[in-house]
Amino acid sequence: MNVFLLSIFIVTVLSQGLDFSKFRQHDYRLTVERADILSYDKKYMNYAKVIPFKCNRTNVAVNGTFNFKINVGSELVVMVQFYKFASNEYRLFPVRFQDKFCKFFKENVAGVQRLLNCGNFVECLLVVNTNITLCNFIPDDSKFPPLIPSGSFRINLHALYSNNELFVLEVYAKITRPEVK
Ligand SMILES: *[C@@H]1O[C@H](CO)[C@@H](O)[C@H](O)[C@H]1NC(C)=O
Ligand SMILES: *[C@@H]1O[C@H](CO)[C@@H](O)[C@H](O)[C@H]1NC(C)=O
Ligand SMILES: *[C@@H]1O[C@H](CO)[C@@H](O)[C@H](O)[C@H]1NC(C)=O
Repeated sequence: MNVFLLSIFIVTVLSQGLDFSKFRQHDYRLTVERADILSYDKKYMNYAKVIPFKCNRTNVAVNGTFNFKINVGSELVVMVQFYKFASNEYRLFPVRFQDKFCKFFKENVAGVQRLLNCGNFVECLLVVNTNITLCNFIPDDSKFPPLIPSGSFRINLHALYSNNELFVLEVYAKITRPEVK
């Protein structure tokens, strides 16, 4: 395993505060294939839904609506865990990091600031009992961790608030590199 990936793993298992400015790369393409809300907790969420759709030959974009029953404000934490497809199943892959959603937003991790382009999302503050909508969202692959190998991945995003899991979003994506001749 390469050192950068290993250090992502260690740093984030021990603490938050990974340097997201290192999430910059131009080596691979990441293409979303589908996305789904695996589960949401009705104690904390009125509603959580994402609709992936093909927007052209290569890209899948995502629409979504989230409605929180509790006032999470700027305190939502997102834990990201990669799984890599190998031998017929998605297996735990050592890229895992977590931080406040507002930090991801500020650092534009995965191009999350693109959420501002469509829908009623205005900032990382999440208001209660309101439909928060996003649309036509495609992640920015140049703002992902470098050196992830090519292959098929499932990326699980766990939305957490004071130790409660509010919802889990699953994203299936392919990492490819231009063929070297
Ligand atoms: C597909 O759409 C995305 C977003 O609109 C765009 O960035 C990309 O260039 C498009 N790809 C093709 C092959 O048209
Ligand atoms: C919120 O979104 C849900 C699901 O799309 C919809 O059924 C509901 O009518 C929306 N509420 C408002 C106030 O727009
Ligand atoms: C996604 O959202 C956009 C903007 O609201 C809308 O025009 C489009 O029809 C939606 N697509 C799907 C598949 O729901």
